[in-house]
Order: sequence, then structure tokens, then C-alpha cells
Amino acid sequence: MTLELRNLTKVFGGGGKRVVRAVDDVSFTIPEGATFGLLGESGSGKSTLARMIPRLIEPTSGEVIFHGKSLTRLPERDMRGVREQIQMVFQNPFSSLNPRMTVRELIGEPLLVHKRASGAALDNQVRDMMKLVGLNPEHTHRFPHEFSGGQRQRIGIARAIILQPKVLILDEPTSALDVSVQAQVLNLLIDLQRTLKLTYLLITHDLTVVRYMCDEVALMYLGKIVEQGTVEQIFKAPKHPYTQALLHDIPSIDPSQRMLEQVSLEADIVSAPWSGRGCRFSPRCPAAQVGECRTVEPPLVTVGDGQIAACHLVQTVLT
Ligand SMILES: Nc1ncnc2c1ncn2[C@@H]1O[C@H](COP(=O)(O)OP(=O)(O)OP(=O)(O)O)[C@@H](O)[C@H]1O
Ligand SMILES: [Mg+2]
Repeated sequence: MTLELRNLTKVFGGGGKRVVRAVDDVSFTIPEGATFGLLGESGSGKSTLARMIPRLIEPTSGEVIFHGKSLTRLPERDMRGVREQIQMVFQNPFSSLNPRMTVRELIGEPLLVHKRASGAALDNQVRDMMKLVGLNPEHTHRFPHEFSGGQRQRIGIARAIILQPKVLILDEPTSALDVSVQAQVLNLLIDLQRTLKLTYLLITHDLTVVRYMCDEVALMYLGKIVEQGTVEQIFKAPKHPYTQALLHDIPSIDPSQRMLEQVSLEADIVSAPWSGRGCRFSPRCPAAQVGECRTVEPPLVTVGDGQIAACHLVQTVLT
């Protein structure tokens, strides 16, 4: 039950509108039961990538392979079954829950839509789900505004798991929550993964969350993966200047691995836009000294045991 993305690409616009390559040739595989982190600044294409997996956004090109089967040309009626198996949890538990629906309706809705249960059977399943995610099952008739942010996100999670999916796509699941509540929700996700044997794609821009939750992590920059490795590799020996800049203040990094004395992101993505040529990070890269950086797009190459990075300045490791 691995989930594999092959050369996934999404181009928005065209026909007079500004063309944005929101996701550009992204490939990775998430083994069953693993947590794969996707890290990147705002606008790097994380949500677009996530929504292409259950085809809430149609990819421009590339493929998603689930259960050994390509989803690309699957008819819409078969995609319904796939969407039971691949569920999403969204960032904002305030806007993603219909304020006019009770908790029973919110958590029970997927059962009705997919004709899995109704009536008393639905009530029982909703109550079981509420217990599982740490909500009081007595509160089935309450409305979202009667719950705290953390509790609302528990409702969102209950909705996502009630159809017993295999994969959860978690798009910034805790970034709208108070810091004190974030850890509780992350711990709930860890417990659920263990009991329900779930596979996670976790989108975040929080390094602490990645470290706490993930097995492997990919860093996206302007639609492309610029580095990928195990959490241990990335937190000990990040190779790409972008990763090094993001992880600059993390003490675990081996000092001999630093490409420069200091790699900081002074320019931002708006003040130093990419021309479309060469390395997309080069306008902001304090290490971009070679001519190639401005003219040739660096390919993703192996830089360690399974670790890959796209930078002209990193040492390639032959395997
Ligand atoms: N429907 C759309 N039409 C045109 N452009 C879009 C559309 N959706 C997203 N984009 C653009 O695609 C790029 C990637 O957006 P996306 O929302 O995937 O980024 P993100 O990494 O999820 O950002 P954030 O961290 O802010 O959630 C951005 O430049 C965005 O403006
Ligand atoms: Mg997003």
C-alpha cells in the first residue's frame, strides 16, 4: 500500500493568464505506515501537490500510483473509492467545518455520502470515533463554535478517519492552533497512526513538527524538490544551501557539513524573483558563485545514502 508520485506537475494559468508552475516534476514514494514530511515556504506548491493526490486538482502531467495502480486515468466513479482510502485534514479547523452542522452530522457525513451507515449504526460509529479522537461522545449535538481550536481539529480528524482510510494527507494540521495544543494533536496523530496503521503525508513549515513526526522529509522550493532524505540526514547533514539556511539555528548540524560560515536567507522570494533560468534558488542563494547556478538547472543527485539534493555545489556520491 505504498503511495508513489511520479513526475507530478501542475501548471496554472495560460490563455492570457499568468503561468505558474506550482508543482514541477515531483517524484517520491511513501512506504506503508511511514510519515513523509513536505517542508517549504508559503507558495512553494505543497497544497497543490497534496490536492493532486486524490485528484481534487487534476495534474497537468505525471502520475500517482496507489496500491500499485495509476490513478491518472481512473474514471470518476472509481476515484470515489480511492478518496475513501486517501483522506485529507486541513489547516484551518475554523473554516473547514460547516458551522451549521452538529458534530454528529460533521463526523457522520462521510458515512452517509459513501452509503456506509445511517440511523443508529451511524450514531454508534460517530460516538466511537469521538472517543477515539479524545472528544466527549456526549457532545454529538453541539456545533463547531462550542469547541476549542484543538477540539475542532479533532473533529476534522474524526471526519477524515471514519471511513477507515489508508492514507491521511495532513496539510498544516496544527499551524492554526495554539502552541500548547499543537503537541496534543500531534500526539493524537501518532497514536492513530499506530492503531489504524495509517500512512501520512504531512505538510508543514515547522521544523519541530517534522523532527517530531516524520521518517523522511522533502524540501520544496518554487514547485520543485530541492532536497530529500531521512529526518536524521536532513537534520544532521543538510546539503542544499536552502536547507542549510532553514536549519541554520538547529544545533544538531555537523559543523563540517556547513557549506558556508553562515547561510541565511536575507532576500525573500518576492524581492529576489527567479528569472526562470538556472537554479531557482540562485537569486537568494548566498553560495551561488558559479556561472552554472544562473544558467543551468541543477538536477537532483545522490549526496548520501538515499539523500538527494539539487545544487551544483554539492558533492555527488556515486552509488
Ligand atoms: N488555482 C490556482 N490558480 C493559479 N495559481 C494557483 C492556484 N492555486 C495555487 N496557485 C499558485 O501556485 C503556487 C503554489 O501554491 P500552494 O498553495 O500550493 O503553495 P503552498 O506551499 O501550499 O503555500 P502555503 O504554505 O501558503 O499554504 C503559488 O504561486 C500559488 O499562487
Ligand atoms: Mg498550502
